[in-house]
Amino acid sequence: MKLGVVILAAGQGTRMRSELPKVLHPLADRPLLGHVIATARGLGAKRIAVVYGHGGERVPGAFTDSDLIWVEQAQQLGTGHAVEQALPAMAEMDRVLVLYGDVPLTSLDTLHGLLQAAEQTQLALLTVTLADPTGYGRIVRDDQDRVLRIVEQKDASAAELEIDEVNTGMLVADRPSLVQWLGQLENDNAQGEFYLTDIVAKAVAEGGEVHSAQPGEAYEVMGVNDRLQLAELERCFQRLQAERLMRQGLTLRDPARFDLRGTLTVGRDVEIDVNVLIVGDVTLGDDVRVGANTVIRNSRIGDGVQIFENCVIDRAEVGAASIIGPFSRLRPETVLSERVHVGNFVEIKKSEVAEGSKINHLSYVGDTTVGRSVNIGAGTITCNYDGAFKHRTIIGDDAFIGSDTQLVAPVEVGAGATIGAGSTITRDAPPEALTLSRPRQTSIPGWSRPRKEKK
Ligand code: UD1
Ligand code: MG
Repeated sequence: MKLGVVILAAGQGTRMRSELPKVLHPLADRPLLGHVIATARGLGAKRIAVVYGHGGERVPGAFTDSDLIWVEQAQQLGTGHAVEQALPAMAEMDRVLVLYGDVPLTSLDTLHGLLQAAEQTQLALLTVTLADPTGYGRIVRDDQDRVLRIVEQKDASAAELEIDEVNTGMLVADRPSLVQWLGQLENDNAQGEFYLTDIVAKAVAEGGEVHSAQPGEAYEVMGVNDRLQLAELERCFQRLQAERLMRQGLTLRDPARFDLRGTLTVGRDVEIDVNVLIVGDVTLGDDVRVGANTVIRNSRIGDGVQIFENCVIDRAEVGAASIIGPFSRLRPETVLSERVHVGNFVEIKKSEVAEGSKINHLSYVGDTTVGRSVNIGAGTITCNYDGAFKHRTIIGDDAFIGSDTQLVAPVEVGAGATIGAGSTITRDAPPEALTLSRPRQTSIPGWSRPRKEKK
């Protein structure tokens, strides 16, 4: 059985009140449509066609996947018309699954259920029973509970409006039958549209049976029409991710105050405090602690690392047993080896720091190689930028940089060197020596400050 998937994504999304096409609005940093494409892939679809229209080329332009088939529907003449545009892309497929680009959270389990319901027949629908069915197409059944047709809200009689089983829009059809049914659609209805839903009555008229399946959870069939619904589904998605991670053994102090926008790989006995945001591809080793209000983006954190509150870590590597924060900022291409300490108001960029080195207070370290067991005193700054170019600083093993030092790059501090506090180092400092560049301290005994004369 070759499965093709058609994703409908041509609609305007007026209620988003946005320049951005609706299906490109992000849920956990990924466009709504991206979630649906991932679902189609998860089902093992042989072909995936996306019907786009509103927003024009911005929609295909947002995806780099080379195997997607983009089908333009210049005018939105209805869901039936939309699917019809994608039929050429479905040639050779046995069955076609229709998904919506603005319904991001349908589970694979639910869709497997729908595919199963379609096994013995030409058409199966995903339906759901709602307390308030207003707006949806209603599933009309006969007295033996067989599906007869779908009637849209605007075309329904008073009695039909009472039906609380509704069409989610997702369906699976045998491809040759679908081609035939879509060819017969008419738009003589309240909205003047070619309704995909009319294929149900056509299948029944041919003597076919239309089967149905239901989603595991209600949110799986919820679409995004406005930013409130987008926020609701974001919360829902975040809760699902948090639950999955907690089942894997992660401690979240409050799953409602944890956000993951990407993929998180965690070791054993990891603890994450409240208001932590994880973005992109992040790995946390065993026994890692992440303090409150921390953001970690595309980084690898080694075993036993403690990250205290309010840190921002971006494209960095932190070696095992290191201690970071509170209030540290690790910028891209920072590589910390094992047992490194980075303290408050320390910013590190594009630098390697070897084992056991400490940069504990108020420093900027950029474009620097720091050896092992180095101590960088409070307020030390690498002056890596001359206004045009960046230059490197090299600090050897066991060096001690006194507080409030400026290291004017390019410059090298030798192994075991000591730099006196308050120095401005513009030339290389030799190993094992004390280097300092500050005026000698002098005292003038009995010196008195100027005073104003009393009147
Ligand atoms: C549709 C169904 C309705 C169902 C509801 C579920 C039809 C006729 N009705 O109604 O039974 O209860 O979805 O949400 O199918 N689209 C296109 N091109 C078009 C028209 C729509 O790509 O020409 C896309 C939209 O972007 C959207 C989806 O198809 O993603 C559904 O369209 P929408 O107009 O929201 O359908 P409803 O009228 O809500
Ligand atoms: Mg509509």
